[in-house]
Amino acid sequence: MKRVLVATGGGDCPGLNAVIRAIVKRAQQEPDWEVIGSIESFNGILREPTEIRVLDERAVAGIHVQGGTIIGSTNKGGPFAWPIKNKDGSWDFVDRSDEMIRKLQYLGVDAVISIGGDGSQKISQALFEKGLNIIGVPKTIDNDLSATDFTFGFQTAVQIATEAVDKLVTTAASHNRVLVLEVMGRFAGWIALHAAIGGGAEVCLIPEIPYDLNKVLERLKARYSKGKGNAIVVIAEGAKPKDGSIVFAESKEVGYSNLRLGGVAHKLTEELKMAGFEADMRETVLGHLQRGGIPTAYDRILATQFGVKAFEMVLEQRFGQMVAYRHPNIVAVPLSEAVGQPNFVDPGCDLVKTAKGIGISFGD
Ligand code: F6P
Repeated sequence: MKRVLVATGGGDCPGLNAVIRAIVKRAQQEPDWEVIGSIESFNGILREPTEIRVLDERAVAGIHVQGGTIIGSTNKGGPFAWPIKNKDGSWDFVDRSDEMIRKLQYLGVDAVISIGGDGSQKISQALFEKGLNIIGVPKTIDNDLSATDFTFGFQTAVQIATEAVDKLVTTAASHNRVLVLEVMGRFAGWIALHAAIGGGAEVCLIPEIPYDLNKVLERLKARYSKGKGNAIVVIAEGAKPKDGSIVFAESKEVGYSNLRLGGVAHKLTEELKMAGFEADMRETVLGHLQRGGIPTAYDRILATQFGVKAFEMVLEQRFGQMVAYRHPNIVAVPLSEAVGQPNFVDPGCDLVKTAKGIGISFGD
C-alpha cells in the first residue's frame, strides 16, 4: 500500500475540505493508495504521540460543503521553527525538518500534499529541497498568489464582504451615516475592490493605491447636502494614506510571525473627524467572518479541481510543483517559481478602471 499525507497549513479558508475530499475520492480510484491527514499542518507529525488521521470515504463524505478543515490548521510551529520553552520562560525555535522527514519515512509516507498559502508553500519548497516528495496546493482568501489566476476561498470572502456592504447600505441610508467596512486581504486589495464594486460603495481604499485624505473627504462631502446623505467606504486592512503607514498590532502569540493587520477603519474615521467631516460615522470590521462558513459553489469546484490534480501529480511524480489555475486549465508550476511572487492589484487594471467608471473613489 502507498500512502499520501495531506496537511492544511496557515489561516483556514473555505474550500479546504473540498480539496481534501477530492484527493481522497481520486485516490480511491487507485487500488494501492491510501490517504492520511496530519493534524494542524505538519505539527501532527512533529508531536509525540503523532497526530494523524486516516482519510477514507467515510471521513470525507459530504465535507465539500463545510468551511474550515477537518484536519485542523495553524500558522504557528512547523518543521523549520518548532517552539521550545526555556526554563526562564523565553522561547527558542528549532529546525526539526530532518527529523520530520525521517518520521514520514517511518510512517510509510510516499508523498505529501501541502495545502497552504505563501508561507506554507515556502516550507514545501524547503522540504522538497531536502528530498521530500511534496506537492503544493495554493489557498488563501486574499487571492495574492501570482502563480494562479484565483485561489479557492477568495470568491466566498468576496461574497461575504459584498453581502456586508448590502446590509450596511440600508442602515446607512436610514441614519444618514458614513459606514466604513474594513475587510481582510493583507497587503492585497482584491477583496475590498470586488466588494466595493459588487456592493456599490462610494469609496474603496486599497494598499496598492495609497490614499489622499482630502480626496476621500471630497468624495464623501459630495454625497452630503445640508447634512443629508449616506455613503459606504470599503477599506482593505492593509490600506494606508499617501504619507502614512499600515496599521497593525504586535502579536504576542508564540511562533506567530505574521503582521496582525487591523484597525484601519477606526483610524480613517478618526482622520476624517480631525479633518472636520461632520457626518455620523461608524466602523464595521468584518474580520474572520470572511473565512468562515460554507464555500460558494465556485470555490467548491475550484478546490475540487485542485484536489484531483494534486493527486494526479503524485501519480505522475511531479514533486516540487504546485497546482495552479491558468484559465481555462489546471496546471502544475514549479514551487520555486510560485512562492514569493505576490499578486497585487495593478492600479491601472481594468477592474480599477471599472470601479472608477462607476464613480468609486480610491482617494487618489
Ligand atoms: O491570509 C488570510 C488572512 O485572513 C488575512 O486576510 C488576514 O490578515 C490574516 O489571514 C489573519 O490571520 P489570523 O487568522 O492569524 O488572524
